[in-house]
Amino acid sequence: MKQQKSIEALQLFTTGLTNGAFAHLVQGKYFESLGFTKLGEKYTAHYTKEMGWVEKFMRRINDLGGDVKIEDQKGRDVVKDPIEYLKVDLEIQKQGLEILYNCMAELKDDPTTYEILKEYLADEEEDLYWSEEQIEMVEMIGRQNWLMKQM
Ligand SMILES: [Fe+2]
Ligand SMILES: [Fe+2]
Repeated sequence: MKQQKSIEALQLFTTGLTNGAFAHLVQGKYFESLGFTKLGEKYTAHYTKEMGWVEKFMRRINDLGGDVKIEDQKGRDVVKDPIEYLKVDLEIQKQGLEILYNCMAELKDDPTTYEILKEYLADEEEDLYWSEEQIEMVEMIGRQNWLMKQM
């Protein structure tokens, strides 16, 4: 199949992002249960946004004549401390972007898939900046003050 590379890349992000998005949802609901309503809403919205990208990836796989695979992913525990989660998530985001940059370099001959992933990349960069900003804010205003803002 001509677009095999595109299908593989889209499948990689379909599975990986579904897992990542679900982690945001689990973390969001946990933070909500602690009373950090705003932080909970932030991560719940993040889940919804990322699943929107997964839908786009799946649509593109189908358009290319591929079959979306329902793949298992490795699980992980909930990170109980909100600030610890910011840091853990930042590392995951950095790794994800690295994979995305590498994948995109191989997709130059499929402009449509390239365009979809480029838009997704810009969105992920925004998320990464948000995490970095929050970690900086914690350093500036202190843990307690930052947590207060998340209620
Ligand atoms: Fe994410
Ligand atoms: Fe994201």
